[in-house]
Amino acid sequence: MEIFKTKASLQAYLQNARSTGKKIALIPTMGALHEGHLSLLNYAKPISDIRVCSIFVNPTQFNDPKDLEKYPRPIENDIKLLESVDCDILFLPSVEEMYPDKDEYWHIDLGELDQIWEGEKRPGHFQGVTQVVYKLFTLVQPNIACFGQKDFQQVMVIKRMIAIKDLPIELAICPIIRDHDGLALSSRNMRLSAEGKRQALALSRSLQYVRDHIHNNVPLNKIKQEAEHILMNTAGVTVEYFAICESTSLEEVETIDFSKQHVVLVTAWVEGVRLIDNMTIS
Ligand code: PAF
Repeated sequence: MEIFKTKASLQAYLQNARSTGKKIALIPTMGALHEGHLSLLNYAKPISDIRVCSIFVNPTQFNDPKDLEKYPRPIENDIKLLESVDCDILFLPSVEEMYPDKDEYWHIDLGELDQIWEGEKRPGHFQGVTQVVYKLFTLVQPNIACFGQKDFQQVMVIKRMIAIKDLPIELAICPIIRDHDGLALSSRNMRLSAEGKRQALALSRSLQYVRDHIHNNVPLNKIKQEAEHILMNTAGVTVEYFAICESTSLEEVETIDFSKQHVVLVTAWVEGVRLIDNMTIS
């Protein structure tokens, strides 16, 4: 695996590859890699010639400086993991390399997506995400970009940015990877104790409850209440939001229209760590 730390060196390498018709896949990450990230790399393997994984803890998407400071950065282990899946290129820039102008202005019209759920709870978060992802897209010019469905709203935001900027990039959305107990894999799980991980299982259990009961003619508000009880009755879990939404607008629904896809979104805190999860209902 080649490691590039500057935009110029990465660009020179990729220009050469592109001129020989190689198909490039980009897997943007913030490191602290786990099986979820590796599944994106594995997905991209048969459909691309060069897989570029970026590791960059992007400061502009953190609205809480403490969260940014505490974000895990186990780079030696990340490199080993990337080598284990034969990743071709790791792009590992510094903050100065990505943001030579500290006051760089960025704004993209994300409509409602910037105002609801993660957009509401983390003001400026999606502006920061799109700012860095747009930089990576411009730099790497990938044919395919891979993202995980765990960040459901983030995927919608990236889709919208691709449409607004009219980028010739195929978006690959890969399923959530869970551990054997159902906990959605997340870099943030590294900050949980064994007990915290056990408590965090309430998130996936609440989602699964909705999925299991939705077809049983039980009113949706009852199902939602029961699912919320799972979360509230688990010591150590503080719910930020729990919502059953239509999946293209993320509008909360009171009844299910079975001709549409829905998604259940949950965000909760465990041991001071903010965790998100979701489950689609088709
Ligand atoms: O999902 C993430 O890890 C980040 O939001 C991303 C897409 C790498 C942008 O920093």
